[in-house]
Amino acid sequence: MIPSWERYANDHFLNGIASLCLDPDRVPRIEEVNRFLCPLTGFQATPVKGYIPAFLFFDCLRNRRFPTTITIRDAARLDYLPEPDIFHDIAGHVPMHTDPAFAETLVRFGECAHTAASLVAGIRNEHERVARLTSIIRAMARFFWFTIEFGLMQSRNGLKAYGSGLLSSHGELEHSIQSPEVQRYPLQLEWAINQGFAIDTYQPLLFWVESFDHLFSLVDTLEHWMREGKLNNVAPGEPAVNETDLLSFIR
Ligand SMILES: [Fe+2]
Repeated sequence: MIPSWERYANDHFLNGIASLCLDPDRVPRIEEVNRFLCPLTGFQATPVKGYIPAFLFFDCLRNRRFPTTITIRDAARLDYLPEPDIFHDIAGHVPMHTDPAFAETLVRFGECAHTAASLVAGIRNEHERVARLTSIIRAMARFFWFTIEFGLMQSRNGLKAYGSGLLSSHGELEHSIQSPEVQRYPLQLEWAINQGFAIDTYQPLLFWVESFDHLFSLVDTLEHWMREGKLNNVAPGEPAVNETDLLSFIR
């Protein structure tokens, strides 16, 4: 990945990967990663075996913990797999957590999950509560997808990737920057939260931000919109919100 990162990754990522001192020849232990990461932003990678419900995931971010998958992909599927593995999480996500502005953005996003839970807690009618929460979770998941997972950022040398889904896929990283098939637009919140996506193909639509301060301000706006009710009826479609995710917010 290193030559691709040097060409297509944003500088915050390149600084982050350097400061983690990862050995390119082996899978790291989580403790080794945290020894370098934690002093920088207080973030820690926390090992998990697989999927964790949405609220718990966002709550971990709020507490500067990043749930990190500890399985590694099969050698036959090196380029892309839809579910996370340790390469996606440690090489794709964790380098960004060394950046203070990005780290604050993730914490702020985690706080939004608490806002969502408290907003719907006051709704007596169960049908209405589930409908509203489903829409809010969908909006949050779409925002996360188009930023943290697949975001691009403007730089002096053009667009660069900061999304971990791009940074952990050799084929998609180049495709995301170079391919004329990809639509790349400045991130508009009202668009991203109403835009569905497929997880099993290269993304045909990507959004870029100016900086992580810009991204932070978008998370702030997302929370304001949530309080104003603007996330209560986003466009239906992907991603599906399952019952485990809903219950994680309600409980
Ligand atoms: Fe991810």
